[in-house]
Formats: sequence, structure tokens, C-alpha cells
Amino acid sequence: MSQRSQWGTRAGFILAAVGSAIGLGNIWRFPYVAYDNGGGAFFLPYLIALFTAGIPILIMEFIMGHKYGGSSPLTFSRLNKKSEYVGWLQVFISFGISTYYAVIIAWALAYSVYSFNLSWGENTGEFLMGSYLQAGEVGSVGGIVPSVFIPLVIVWAVVLAVLFKGVKKGIEAANKIFIPALVVLFLIIVLRAVTLEGAAQGLNAFFAPDWSQLGDPSVWTAAYTQIFFSLSICFAIMITYSSYLPKKSDLTNNAFITGLSNSGFELLAGIGVFSAIGFVAASTGNGIDDFAADGVGLAFAIFPQIINQMPFLNGLFGFMFFASLVLAGLSSLISISETYIAAFQEKFSISRTKAVAFGGGLSALISILYATKGGVHILTAVDRYVLTVGVGLSGLIEVILLAWVIRKVKDLQDHANGLSQIRLGSWWTICLTVITPILLGYMMIASLYSEFT
Ligand code: PHE
Ligand code: NA
Repeated sequence: MSQRSQWGTRAGFILAAVGSAIGLGNIWRFPYVAYDNGGGAFFLPYLIALFTAGIPILIMEFIMGHKYGGSSPLTFSRLNKKSEYVGWLQVFISFGISTYYAVIIAWALAYSVYSFNLSWGENTGEFLMGSYLQAGEVGSVGGIVPSVFIPLVIVWAVVLAVLFKGVKKGIEAANKIFIPALVVLFLIIVLRAVTLEGAAQGLNAFFAPDWSQLGDPSVWTAAYTQIFFSLSICFAIMITYSSYLPKKSDLTNNAFITGLSNSGFELLAGIGVFSAIGFVAASTGNGIDDFAADGVGLAFAIFPQIINQMPFLNGLFGFMFFASLVLAGLSSLISISETYIAAFQEKFSISRTKAVAFGGGLSALISILYATKGGVHILTAVDRYVLTVGVGLSGLIEVILLAWVIRKVKDLQDHANGLSQIRLGSWWTICLTVITPILLGYMMIASLYSEFT
């Protein structure tokens, strides 16, 4: 076997990990989840989830990838022969996510072009579901929608080209451009948004704490789900990325930098999104609640409305907003796809080129399903299922396996402590062996219960 690929620099690795973490979840998911689950009060469960599960698991995955040096399935099988399937489960979930994540980036690419002429017109919701997506009724299917298909081809062309080029010349080089560009663009957007009229009302609504909601278990579930998705943990991604680290790497420190950068970006997005919502509410004379939303509706129906209302250079603002979605999305999609490419490469002893062509090609092919009339309905259903079941389940299996079945927490702890000035002590082990399994177990039961009743 040829020598395993490696990151060129520490900054390159961190940018790639941060690039994976910062994605659509930060921009279109976090602001609304926080608003809907206690506003300012949500920061308490959110920070608890970050420090009891998010960062501890991120540290653990960095150690696993680094110590065992393989894709997720290979890493799990080196930990224990019988646990290879956990890696494959994660790879499978990531593969599923990659098929539809690409489509959302394609929409954002189309909308970044539409921004210049405000092509979506006055009725942005109708334009989205009608003219643009040609969604039709739920359950209806039809032919390919060119306005989705064409940008989708571009998205995959970029992603596959980056992946073909490999870890250092592809993934690292791309993130070195994407992430700084994203941060600059996004800072400009947020600065513009907070200076719009009405921004203060939006921010008040976003930060107003509703402490009473903290008694509701679903708020805590929302916090943990957000952290897992947002940090890209338990999706095979961080294990794969850290398997390309050189021997001397401060894993614990890298994990803190990655986790805190992601949350910082999330906070920034919350401020930007709710300032903009405050502005559109004020300028149309409606309430914040008429515009507060997440996901597809927020990005592709409400943001176009906001852009329509903006006083000057609104086309440029629109372009920057959708371009940030594209950049944030691409760097995440690259990381999701690398999980199965690395896994196929090792499992079948094939070249990177073949693994990219086969794995990436297959995902690209499947993604065409969502570029059909009615495809958006399938996308929404798959996304919901992956989020409620996939996230909790693979997290739970991973933590219970390591902490209770094969009991590797101590080994991993020693490995990291030999490499870092930040010592992992009982905080880390207690989080992994007690707190996180209990919380995730509870979450799974609660979400299955609500799914079937
Ligand atoms: N972490 C990314 C986000 O916040 C998305 C992501 C989730 C990427 C799962 C990979 C896997 O959007
Ligand atoms: Na994120």
C-alpha cells in the first residue's frame, strides 16, 4: 500500500474540520432552533450540550482517527474486530446526507444568480415551490427540473474535482480558500443586517430568554441534536479527517478550536438572521413570528423577501447571502463525501480515483432524484428522518460501544494526554461514560416514542 495521505499544515486540518462543521446547520437551522426553544435561555442547554457531548466527542473522534489511522470502518475494526459495522453505519448515514445536501447547495447556487435581478418576484414562496422547484403536490413525481439539475451538476463537478485531487491538494487547498472567503462574506452580511432598521426588534426577540421552556425535555433534545449535527460528530467525518494528521498533533486543542469556531459562527448567524427578520417585520408591518422559520423556507422564501425589501444594493446582499450558503455547504459536502471515499478505498484496496468515481458518482446519481418535480418532498422527508433517528442512534452506539462494551476511553485518554498540554481528566471521562449515554438514550426513546404515538 502507498503511504497514507496527510494534511500539509495544522491550519489546513483545522480549516477543513471547521469547514465541515460550519454548514447549512449553522446558518439556517441554529437561529430558529434557538428562537423556538427558549431564545436567550436556549444558550444554557446549548452550552451544556457543547461541553458535555459536543467537544468531548469531537476530542474522542480526533483521537480515534489519529491513533488508528483509518476511515471510520477501519478505525472501528482496529479498535475491535466486531465493531467495524459501526463505522459502516456512520458512512451509510453520511452517504444519505450527501445525496440531498448537494441539492440544497445547488438551489443556493441558482439563487445567488437570481439575486442580481430579484428573479423571484414579489411572491417568493410561490416562486420557490412553483416556478423554481415545480414541486406539485406531496407524493407527485415528474421529470427533471433543469433549474435544479444544472446547478446540481456544477456542485458535483466542483466537489468531485476537489476529492480527486486528494487530501492536501484537494480538500485542504479548497478549504483554505472557502473558509476565509466565507468568514469575510458572512461578516459583511451580518454587519449590514444589524444596521438595518428594525434589527433591534429582531435581536430582542432572538435573545429574549424564556426560562420556563427549560423545563421541557424537548428543548434539551433540540440542543443536543443541534450540537451533534452542527459539529459533524458521529458521522464518520471527524474520524476520517483526523486519520490524515501527522504523528505530532495536539488533538485536544484542535478539537476546542474547531468546536468553539463552529459555535462562534452559529452565534454570528443567529445575530445576522434575526436582525434581517426584524428588518423585514418592521418594513412590512408584521410580527417577528410571521418570518421566523428555519430550513428551506427561511433561506429560499423568507430571505428573498428580505432582499426585496432592502433599501440599496439588495442584489449584492442577496448574492453574498446565497454565496455564503454555497461555500458553507460545499466544505461540508466535501467532508461528508470523503467518509465513504476513504472507506471504499481501504475496504476494496482501490485507488482514490476509483473510489471517488464510484462513491461520489453514485451519490451524484442518486441526488438527481431530488432534482425532479416533487423531489423536494422526498428531500424534506429524508432530512427529517436522518435528523431524528440517524443523529441520536449513531451517537448512542458510538459512545456506548467505546465506554461500556470495548472500554477504550482510558486508552484514548492516554493517547491524547501524551500529545497535548490540555490534560483530559475526569470531566472528559464522566461526560463520555455517564452523561452522554444517558442523555442520548433518553433522546432516542423520546423521539421514537413521539414518532410512533
Ligand atoms: N455540520 C454541518 C452543518 O452544520 C453539516 C453536516 C452534518 C455535515 C452532518 C456533515 C454531516 O451544516
Ligand atoms: Na455546523
